[in-house]
Amino acid sequence: MNDFKRETEYLLAPQLAACERVIRSGWYILGPEVLGFEREWGMQCGSPHVVGVGNGMDALEIGLRALAIGAGDEVITTPLTAFATVLAILRAGATPVLADIDSKTALLDLPSVERCLGPRTRAVMVVHLYGQAAPVDAFQALCGARNIHLIEDCAQAHGARWEGKPVGTFGAFAGWSFYPTKNLGALGDGGALSTGSESIAAAARQLRNYGQSVRYQHPVAGLNSRLDEMQAALLRVRIPHLQKWVGARREVARMYTDGIHHPDVRLLSIPPQAERHAHHLFVLTCDRRDALQSHLAERGVESLIHYPVPIHHQQPCRHLQRDPEGLCRAEQHAATCLSIPCHPFLKPEETQAVIDAVNSFPQSRA
Ligand SMILES: Cc1ncc(COP(=O)(O)O)c(C=O)c1O
Repeated sequence: MNDFKRETEYLLAPQLAACERVIRSGWYILGPEVLGFEREWGMQCGSPHVVGVGNGMDALEIGLRALAIGAGDEVITTPLTAFATVLAILRAGATPVLADIDSKTALLDLPSVERCLGPRTRAVMVVHLYGQAAPVDAFQALCGARNIHLIEDCAQAHGARWEGKPVGTFGAFAGWSFYPTKNLGALGDGGALSTGSESIAAAARQLRNYGQSVRYQHPVAGLNSRLDEMQAALLRVRIPHLQKWVGARREVARMYTDGIHHPDVRLLSIPPQAERHAHHLFVLTCDRRDALQSHLAERGVESLIHYPVPIHHQQPCRHLQRDPEGLCRAEQHAATCLSIPCHPFLKPEETQAVIDAVNSFPQSRA
């Protein structure tokens, strides 16, 4: 699904130089590399303020806390996401409420979100899942009318745009993950919060560093969640390659979209406004998903499932409030989805081999 060895070869010299620079600097936490990264990532993702933190989950928790969203507050989100999205809401002390997905895109469904709204709703957290921008303008309108916050989980969407505008610039803040498999990955854990608001950024800077205002003064009880100098320096080497890598992912996706033709296999739809899909993952659906996965494995094609267990079936989340009409589209997607290899270092002949393997899956008799 990923080939880090190909990637490492390509970037070895500049990354070693960056590591050496940090080692020789003698400054390892919250120094010039983090400042440089925050400036450069802000320019890349179109946000005036970036705060480097320990990982993507902390970025969401810290942002929620910076908005003073906590105990007694509800945040509506999707049951089809990484567990970290919902765990961040729980860790902020707030209550996640789960809305269903749109089965054509697997993204949060607006009418379902509307059914979940209540007097305690403080925010809607959209997830730009698989690298596809959610319909943020519609969510912006809903949140504006209700005077609640829109929050963007951009962990899978570096380089994605909605109507030409980068994701992460539509809500109160965005959370980014630089987990190694992401479109922009570090060589360890890393994350960032981006925002157009100076006050949210200031609160996040305090929260990431024990809630410290000036040295040894802690007006709030924060976290220890600081992006370290080494990961910041490595990310600075990698940022200039992001657009090219997203372009390579898009080319893999184009080959899949043109080449996969099977009556039992469906592809997710991409509305024209989400045209700049960042293709973090390429996901198809098939009612006989497990048989398809075995068929691919027999032909040497790796695949994964994102996600086999929707959030409301995870032990700590079984009690969570949800759309009164249920979450059956998320259930259906979780039972049928399959991610096939999609990364910038996949060669055209390897992509073609995946297409051939999918197309040779025996058809159902029905
Ligand atoms: C949608 C989504 N949100 C949040 C996260 C959390 O990021 P991290 O692993 O950096 O904490 C991830 C990473 O898996 C993710 O995919």
